[in-house]
Amino acid sequence: MKQFQIRPVIQCFASFAEFAEQTGFTPEDCIFTVRHLHEQWLKPIKIQSSVLLFEDYGSGEPTDEMIDRILADFRKLKCKRVIAVGGGSVLDIAKFLALKPTTDTALDWFESKAQLIKDKELILVPTTCGTGSEMTCISIAGILSKGTKKGLAAEPLFADKAALIPELLYGLPKPVMVTSSLDALAHAMESFVAPRAHAYSELFSMEAIRLILKSYKTLLANDSDFVVRDVAEDLLMASNYAGIAFGNVGVGAVHALAYPLGEKYHVFHGEACARFFGAVFQVYCSKKPAGKMQVLTRQLMQVLDCSEDQDPWVSMADLLNQLLPAKPLREYGMTETDIESFADSVILEQQRLLVNNYVELSRDEIRDIFKTLW
Ligand SMILES: NC(=O)c1ccc[n+]([C@@H]2O[C@H](COP(=O)([O-])OP(=O)(O)OC[C@H]3O[C@@H](n4cnc5c(N)ncnc54)[C@H](O)[C@@H]3O)[C@@H](O)[C@H]2O)c1
Ligand SMILES: [Fe+2]
Repeated sequence: MKQFQIRPVIQCFASFAEFAEQTGFTPEDCIFTVRHLHEQWLKPIKIQSSVLLFEDYGSGEPTDEMIDRILADFRKLKCKRVIAVGGGSVLDIAKFLALKPTTDTALDWFESKAQLIKDKELILVPTTCGTGSEMTCISIAGILSKGTKKGLAAEPLFADKAALIPELLYGLPKPVMVTSSLDALAHAMESFVAPRAHAYSELFSMEAIRLILKSYKTLLANDSDFVVRDVAEDLLMASNYAGIAFGNVGVGAVHALAYPLGEKYHVFHGEACARFFGAVFQVYCSKKPAGKMQVLTRQLMQVLDCSEDQDPWVSMADLLNQLLPAKPLREYGMTETDIESFADSVILEQQRLLVNNYVELSRDEIRDIFKTLW
């Protein structure tokens, strides 16, 4: 059986002011966000709600211990509704704030030692264009005791509403825009070839790929350091579409291999995914060139305006390389001994993702990808 759902409710707003008016912030709300978004968008409208800021608890991407510290403060506030405004890091943490306090340590939830029960309303407002987290029941955190990132997927982590407000992305620095949208591209491409993919998920995956690659061409033709407005909107939609697709049918090896690198060497998630993208799809192409891979290759030719004698995978690599130049994994600090331990970690910790691979990859094939890229 194949199944598809679009959840939560999606609301599109022309401005943050319209969102604020419709949402009607109350003293029983907790806004979870990052400092500069608070300064720019929330402070000027003088709300009465409680505010928690990501930076007061750590930096980079979420860890289980950071979530514990935020939960401890959040629970003192006795709020009834959580409104998260931020990138995937903020949205993923907010999903835990909306849960009943069945434990004090997020690790218990990740290890299925405590029940996940949602007891507060949750509104997610994405301000990057990569994770699609507003549409998934997934939360990802570095698990410090395990030295890798882990994803938790469970129904109670769904939000009640996803609010899309393109103007929140107008000030997104170009490097964040690039790395976060590369994450969305990985979601779209991995979900397109996933074994559970079907006609509905393919629609969302393909439209996300088309919008992202089209936006990259626009971006490369425009040397502004900030995202132009039409690209921001297209990328926000693409990220949301890709979230819908992968939330239904999953992502695979690109994400599985990116996690140990991302966690151990603090590489931003989208950049870590970008590093494995080409190599994983190359192995897929060589192991099973027919079927979905052939369909994807034909679609890429169209989107990238390739002639019959052009290889769309080479054209795409060139395009991505102009936005985020490729560099060997050792330049992130990865050591030669990490090659074996990362391969072991992927096999041990990322089976949730590996089952979504286009074709099965053995431990040695995974090790060889790390080795080639090192
Ligand atoms: N839940 C899911 O389904 C899912 C899917 C993919 C990735 N993730 C996770 O999401 C996290 C990454 O999220 P991300 O890529 O959105 O980055 P992020 O949330 O870590 O944000 C990156 C940086 O951009 C800044 N920022 C965010 N919005 C901004 C704006 N509008 N203007 C200026 N600066 C802004 C943040 O302060 C931060 O410094 C990772 O932990 C990853 O594992 C979750
Ligand atoms: Fe991702």
